[in-house]
Amino acid sequence: MSPLNLLPILGGLILLPFLPLQPEQDKAAAAQAPNRFIGAQACKNCHNGPEKGDTFDKWQKGPHAKAFETLGTPKAKEIAAKLKIEDPQKSEQCLKCHQTAFGVDAKEIKRGFKHEAGVQCESCHGAGEEHFKIRFKESQAGGTPTPVGANEIAVKRDVATCQKCHNDKSPTYKDFCLKERMKEIEHYDPRKKRSEEDLKKLRDACTPDCPKCSGKDKKADK
Ligand code: HEC
Ligand code: HEC
Ligand code: HEC
Ligand code: HEC
Repeated sequence: MSPLNLLPILGGLILLPFLPLQPEQDKAAAAQAPNRFIGAQACKNCHNGPEKGDTFDKWQKGPHAKAFETLGTPKAKEIAAKLKIEDPQKSEQCLKCHQTAFGVDAKEIKRGFKHEAGVQCESCHGAGEEHFKIRFKESQAGGTPTPVGANEIAVKRDVATCQKCHNDKSPTYKDFCLKERMKEIEHYDPRKKRSEEDLKKLRDACTPDCPKCSGKDKKADK
């Protein structure tokens, strides 16, 4: 092969880095991109209004949305002072349970996410960016929603979800009964068709490790 014949090939090699990503590379990049935390405000568009169960409003009026604010109250400061913590709103020892995604790497948090919004949807449902993208695309296309995929967004009625924070490391810990506490933050979606009986079954479901429901603590049941 004469050196002249090689020229187009060499030219191609030099251009290579400037070519757009090939689909395969695109896929690899997407697989590597973390499923980021996007914040409760980003869920509001699709999870509010009476036909969707007013999920966002329920959360905003509930205990979790004010979890960060609570750290600014005199009671919080009193608790913190005993632990020699100056400002609970700045201390890891308090923020780790009073905020979503505390200590999570910045690249896993989308711009616009509000740390001061307290314990948000994603503390229980996991990072929501992937779900957001899938559902946003689908809503643009119109039509009825397809069923939510198994790994799309977590929905677990399970005491472990709550015990990440509702545990005896909390300075104000009280025994945790899943059934009772879930009642206070209930947010079923009416788009899921369920009979009254099905709903009752869901509402009554507890976990064997609940001292009240397991019968180990009969007195407290009354
Ligand atoms: C673009 C619209 C859209 C956005 C934004 C959105 N969702 Fe959804 N979500 C949906 C739709 C549609 C469904 C399916 C509803 C149904 O069952 O008919 C759904 C279902 C769910 C479910 C139930 C899943 C299941 O398996 O039953 C959870 C939990 C959820 N979303 C949480 C979130 C959270 C948390 C956010 C914000 C981080 C969020 N969603 C943002 C559209 C959206
Ligand atoms: C292990 C998780 C966890 C940590 C760490 C934590 N909290 Fe909490 N905090 C909770 C939970 C859960 C509640 C709800 C009440 C309970 O404990 O069951 C709560 C409730 C509170 C309340 C409201 C209590 C009431 O009765 O009104 C205050 C005030 C508070 N925490 C202050 C603090 C301060 C200050 C710190 C840091 C020194 C802190 N918390 C650290 C999980 C935690
Ligand atoms: C990321 C930490 C975190 C997780 C996870 C969490 N909570 Fe909480 N929860 C808190 C904090 C902090 C408070 C106190 C908020 C305040 O008073 O400002 C609280 C308060 C509450 C309250 C009102 C006070 C009380 O103790 O009765 C209920 C009810 C509750 N949580 C239920 C649940 C349930 C049910 C789950 C699981 C499905 C759960 N929480 C998961 C942090 C968390
Ligand atoms: C403290 C934890 C916690 C927070 C915060 C929370 N959820 Fe949930 N969510 C749950 C649990 C647990 C379930 C499953 C309840 C069950 O099956 O009884 C659930 C169920 C759902 C469902 C399915 C409802 C159905 O009818 O099956 C949707 C949709 C949902 N959540 C959206 C949200 C959105 C949006 C937010 C924030 C605005 C949010 N959740 C905040 C714990 C939480």
